[in-house]
Amino acid sequence: MQVTCSSINYREDQLFSEATKLWNLNSLYTDLAKQKQNNTKKEPQLTKVEKACLRGLLPGCSPRKIANALNWSAASISVELSKGLYRYVELLTGRQQNVLKNWRDISQWLEAEGYKTSIPIRRQDWGVSPDISVFYGRTEELTVLEQWIIRDNCRLVTLLGMGGIGKTALAAQLAREIQGNFDLVVWRSLHYAPSINQLLVDLIQFLDNQQQADLSEKTEVLISRLRNCLRQKRCLVVLDDAENIMRCHTHAGQYQDGCEKYAQLLRQVALERHQSCLLLISREKPLQIELLEHKTPCVRSLKLRGLPKEEAEKILESKGFLREQKEWDELITIYRGNCLALHLVTPIIQDFFDGSVSQFLSWNNMIIPVIIPEPLREILVRQFNRLNDLENKIMCYLATNRTLVSLEKLRNGIQIDSASELINALKSLERRSIIEVEKNIQTSQTIFQLQPLIRIAFREHYNIRS
Ligand SMILES: Nc1ncnc2c1ncn2[C@@H]1O[C@H](COP(=O)(O)OP(=O)(O)OP(=O)(O)O)[C@@H](O)[C@H]1O
Ligand SMILES: [Mg+2]
Repeated sequence: MQVTCSSINYREDQLFSEATKLWNLNSLYTDLAKQKQNNTKKEPQLTKVEKACLRGLLPGCSPRKIANALNWSAASISVELSKGLYRYVELLTGRQQNVLKNWRDISQWLEAEGYKTSIPIRRQDWGVSPDISVFYGRTEELTVLEQWIIRDNCRLVTLLGMGGIGKTALAAQLAREIQGNFDLVVWRSLHYAPSINQLLVDLIQFLDNQQQADLSEKTEVLISRLRNCLRQKRCLVVLDDAENIMRCHTHAGQYQDGCEKYAQLLRQVALERHQSCLLLISREKPLQIELLEHKTPCVRSLKLRGLPKEEAEKILESKGFLREQKEWDELITIYRGNCLALHLVTPIIQDFFDGSVSQFLSWNNMIIPVIIPEPLREILVRQFNRLNDLENKIMCYLATNRTLVSLEKLRNGIQIDSASELINALKSLERRSIIEVEKNIQTSQTIFQLQPLIRIAFREHYNIRS
């Protein structure tokens, strides 16, 4: 629902004030108002909403984000922009009407016309961050993360979730949306488990204005140099694929040999005062993060679930599938809205089932319950290979039981005496985002199960038959 303009006037003037630093806004307001008058014969002034939208678009806020800030629906803001600002900018920059396809063009076109007053001192190094040209939904998660990082000044935020669920894509979208709030943005992957010194030297060289840093320096010295950078400038540091610095075959969340000093880095980032944020992305939650979360509200983590139905449907729509509501719902539920699974399974449906989800599901049900596309199988198998013996035993039991399993049933089923060993192993599996833990509403019992994708991949990997 759109809120009436008069009720939020006071807010519109304050929104997106950052644009005033970098853009010649007064000239823009005047020049665009002239185009508006030529175009619509309306009064030669931009409305408060139009001005707020312009200030939002200039530093790179998406229309969705602007709608959020203005408390409008995304659809209404999109209509407002299409009938107003987009058209005036086209006229002002000498383009034909309705040629604008992407809101990001607005700032580029206006910059080319000389409306930008100064070049920001901001520097960014996006490393191996992905292209995010296709990105659906996640409005809630983006809002929460932005609030934590920008409004609440959280120093360490962890984004967790199983492989393929969409962590990296979400972080990339977020980082691009909030980049304007930071002097420096740097994105690194820990895929190859760099030593702590390698990572620190790399970060310092970028954040400390190309100052040299030496691998042979003591880690403590390098951490203190990094801390200075984080204090002096507002930096956003994104570290992706953090599960690779975690140890295998023990309970999840411990650092692997040679990576223990990452604990010092995270501790200092979390507990020392500075103006920056470290966004850590991982399939496994480091145990240390759980402890730090108890110590300070500046450390928070978000466990990412699959895309909800309405958002996941957009992936199917984008493939041009004919809508089959019940079947689409079923498909999305089977794959739990896992983005990678949906992206990988849609070409299979296209190639083998003529794009019909119902044909795919009926065939699917007859042969094996869930088709696991190869790249996803690889990710899951890599996860299974990290488990310890007790975790494997629990997984085996859950993989052979389709129903929800209570703690008592599990304890009897795998015949383990020590309750604490069992609980710790279950917590560990949860930290790896590999089991689903729920509450039975009727009995209030905690219950465990494997989602279909994981159950089938585990059974196939270990050749478990019913
Ligand atoms: N919101 C989204 N809309 C559309 N596609 C998405 C979305 N989120 C993720 N994807 C796509 O799904 C795939 C998997 O996403 P991503 O790589 O972010 O997962 P991940 O959780 O980081 O996995 P991993 O743990 O393996 O790194 C990618 O191809 C990505 O582009
Ligand atoms: Mg990723």
